[in-house]
Amino acid sequence: MPRATGGLTLRPWRDDDAAALIVAADDPMLRRWTKVRAADADEAREWLGVQHRGWQAGDRYSFAVLDDGQRLVANVALKLPDPGAGVAEVGYWTAGYARGQGVAPRALAALTGWVFATFPGLRRLDLLHQIDNTASCRVAQKCGYPYEATLRAEAPYPREGHLHVRYQPVRDG
Ligand SMILES: CC(C)(COP(=O)(O)OP(=O)(O)OC[C@H]1O[C@@H](n2cnc3c(N)ncnc32)[C@H](O)[C@@H]1OP(=O)(O)O)[C@@H](O)C(=O)NCCC(=O)NCCS
Repeated sequence: MPRATGGLTLRPWRDDDAAALIVAADDPMLRRWTKVRAADADEAREWLGVQHRGWQAGDRYSFAVLDDGQRLVANVALKLPDPGAGVAEVGYWTAGYARGQGVAPRALAALTGWVFATFPGLRRLDLLHQIDNTASCRVAQKCGYPYEATLRAEAPYPREGHLHVRYQPVRDG
């Protein structure tokens, strides 16, 4: 499992996270910037089902992030639609009550280390955010995902985006 600093724990999502997920998802920032919808038990079950199926299929590895009191504070995910392509994408969100404390950068740093160790064939990790999501841009910068390109607005994204990229470290030998 990814190892995070500062008292954070990352582990795969579980069905009994539903109640905490519903609380976290009741947030305008998550509705604005993510596809997380968990207004009730049915929606939470559906979202958790997507995460479970991703692990089974090997195309999406998402982690619930807990603080040292075992409170749900964030989500980080690796999206790997084509394991042979050498490129994958990371995503993340932090619950409203835990923002501004460096949770996403610490969780993303842990995820990134785990990904490159677990999938040595991965050449690069992409991180995408809409141009006006400045908080997400800061997470990218703080985690060593430098800006690489501006992407044009394209449905379903109404505005331009930033592509940040982190490359697999070169190994000795
Ligand atoms: C982007 C996001 C994951 C950052 O998570 P975080 O754990 O708060 O990360 P940080 O603590 O490092 O804060 C990052 C930036 O958020 C802003 N921020 C600081 N305190 C904040 C608060 N209380 N509430 C909202 N944003 C805050 C600051 O710009 C900060 O950058 P700085 O450290 O240079 O000041 C979080 O804002 C979020 O969940 N947003 C909605 C979902 C989202 O946008 N996901 C990414 C989609 S690409």
